[in-house]
Amino acid sequence: MATTNTQRGFTSNLGAILAAAGGAVGLGNIWRFPYMLGQNGGGAFLLVYVFFVLLIGVPLMMTEFIIGRRSQSNVVGAYRKLSNGSKGWMLLGVFGIVAAFLIYAFYSVVAGWTLNYIVLSCSGGLAGKDPTAITTLFSDFTQGSFWPLLYQLLFLSLTATVITMGVQKGIEKVSKVLMPILFLLLLLMCVRSVTLDGAAEGLRFLFKPDFSKLNGTCILSALGQSFFSLSIGMGAMVTYGSYIRKQDKLFPTSLWIAGCDSLVAILAGIVIFPAVFAFGMNPASGPELVYIVLPNVFNSMPAGTLFAVIFFMLLGIAALTSTISLLEILVAFGVEELHWKRRTASFVSTLLVFVIGIFCTLSFGILKDFHIFSRTIFDLFDLITASYLMPIGALMMTIFLGWFFPKAEVRDELSNGGAIKAKAFELYYFVLRYLSPLALIIIIISGIIG
Ligand code: TRP
Repeated sequence: MATTNTQRGFTSNLGAILAAAGGAVGLGNIWRFPYMLGQNGGGAFLLVYVFFVLLIGVPLMMTEFIIGRRSQSNVVGAYRKLSNGSKGWMLLGVFGIVAAFLIYAFYSVVAGWTLNYIVLSCSGGLAGKDPTAITTLFSDFTQGSFWPLLYQLLFLSLTATVITMGVQKGIEKVSKVLMPILFLLLLLMCVRSVTLDGAAEGLRFLFKPDFSKLNGTCILSALGQSFFSLSIGMGAMVTYGSYIRKQDKLFPTSLWIAGCDSLVAILAGIVIFPAVFAFGMNPASGPELVYIVLPNVFNSMPAGTLFAVIFFMLLGIAALTSTISLLEILVAFGVEELHWKRRTASFVSTLLVFVIGIFCTLSFGILKDFHIFSRTIFDLFDLITASYLMPIGALMMTIFLGWFFPKAEVRDELSNGGAIKAKAFELYYFVLRYLSPLALIIIIISGIIG
């Protein structure tokens, strides 16, 4: 169709949903969610998490889409345009750019690991190893310098290649191919896992809430996880929102994306916990869960090597569509604000991210004992972004759209210029103006006072 190439962004609603769901579904769902849930009391964490996704996540995603689509801009340009050039609000956009750098820097470390594990599982390098050998393999690899850095750089380059191909031919096309594959692989893994002897205990852990395990830290972690997983609070969805067609409905679009995201997290839980319990492993083992615990599980199950390959491919695909969304925040900024070519913007951003990312990778190895606030650089970046920058960014964003931006314009954007009814507008606006900021303030404060 001739019209598709003349518009700024995605060519269809499905394209927008798959691209944004690709950005949302990532290591956050398959690697981070299970170990967070494992460390924070199982089923109760899941409930709190879903509650936050629905109550705050979906409205905030709509908010980012409104800001992006209204302004037709990258995150810095968006706040500049919508605030009529206010420097203060523009800073909020800059805040998003900084957060994107930090997230991408540590995210690409773990994304790089997936490449190593794809190679290992394909070449049979995991098969037949005893638990000690698997642990040693993981720590030798992550504590090294050359290989993890190489895989990180490879992953960054792969992402930059897709981004250089453009929004329609790169992001949208790749998401349309990879997202269905991801679902398929995940379903396959689920079938394998729930048919294991002893799977029930894992399902019980995942779905049966034990509220006595719930405390402030759990709740804060669940909120941080929902933000991280939905990619909200720092402009990723502002950028993608600017690519959504004017005739697409933002509320159903957001619901689909959040639905896909939570579904993938839950399916990942259904893959991981039955397997972990069936083989007597520890669900609370932390970030190593999928890299150490699962390879042991694969080794003890029939056709384990095949399932190991499938699992790590799945993890790599999920990571790739997310790194694409992270890099696009930076590249859209470079192209629109700094007037760089897309290729130049991809290259420069990738290089900068790699420079910071080196420290994140090395914080598992030679910088392991270098601590700031008693955390390694990697842990610090993860904590700062998920627990502070994203909630604070989200708070500022709700204040901007709810309190500074004219209500009539918000309604206009959400109702596609009056073309659709947007029945729940008043409810959305109430959540935007009161509920989300209040929840966010409580969460930020409780996070600070611990
Ligand atoms: N949501 C992704 C995940 O769950 C991570 C991610 C991609 C992200 N883009 C982002 C997080 C932008 C915050 C902001 O893995």
